[in-house]
Amino acid sequence: MSEDVRVGILTVSDRAHRGEYEDRSGPLLRRLIADRLGWPVAEEGVVPDEQAQIERELIRWADEAGLDLILTTGGTGFAPRDVTPEATRAVIEREAPGLAEAMRAASLRVTPHAMLSRAVCGIRGRTLIVNLPGSPKAARENLEVLIPVLPHALELLAGSPGSEAGHQYRQQA
Ligand code: MTE
Repeated sequence: MSEDVRVGILTVSDRAHRGEYEDRSGPLLRRLIADRLGWPVAEEGVVPDEQAQIERELIRWADEAGLDLILTTGGTGFAPRDVTPEATRAVIEREAPGLAEAMRAASLRVTPHAMLSRAVCGIRGRTLIVNLPGSPKAARENLEVLIPVLPHALELLAGSPGSEAGHQYRQQA
C-alpha cells in the first residue's frame, strides 16, 4: 500500500506562523518520511498555538483531504500556549497510547526532558494523528521510534486485506 499513503505535516508554532523564524522541523519530517518510507507529503502547513485553528486543520486534513497520517510538530510541552495535545484529543475518536508511550520511553534514554512531552496519538476515522515535539532534533528522534511500525499501523487502519495475516505471520516468526 505504500505508494498510496498520503501524509500531512502540521507545524504548530506562534513564532513560525508569524514568520519570526523559519520552520525547520516540518521540512525535516517531510524528508524523513520520503527517504525512509517513500511516502509523499500531500499537505503541509504552519498554524499558531491556537487550539481552534489546530483542530480545524486536523479535521480538514482527516475528513476532507482523507490523509492517512498526520504528523504535528510543536506545542506539546508545559508552556501556557502549548495546546497541541488538547486539540488532538478533541478531534480523535480512538487514542493510540502505545505510540506516545514508546516515543517517551525511547526519548528518556536521550534526555530526562522527554518527561515534559504531553504528546497524544490517536485515530480519527481512517487517519492516524501523531504529535511530535517542536525542535528538529526532538521531532526526528521521536519519529524514528515510530517508523518501523507505521506501515503496519496504516495497513490495519485501512482494513487492507491480508494485514491481519501479516500480523499473525510476524507473531509466529
Ligand atoms: N524527545 C527527544 N527524543 N529529544 C528531545 O530533545 N525534548 C523534550 C521533549 N521530548 C526532547 C524530547 C522537551 S525539552 C520538551 S519541552 C518536550 O519534548 C515538548 O516539546 P515541544 O513543546 O516543542 O512540543
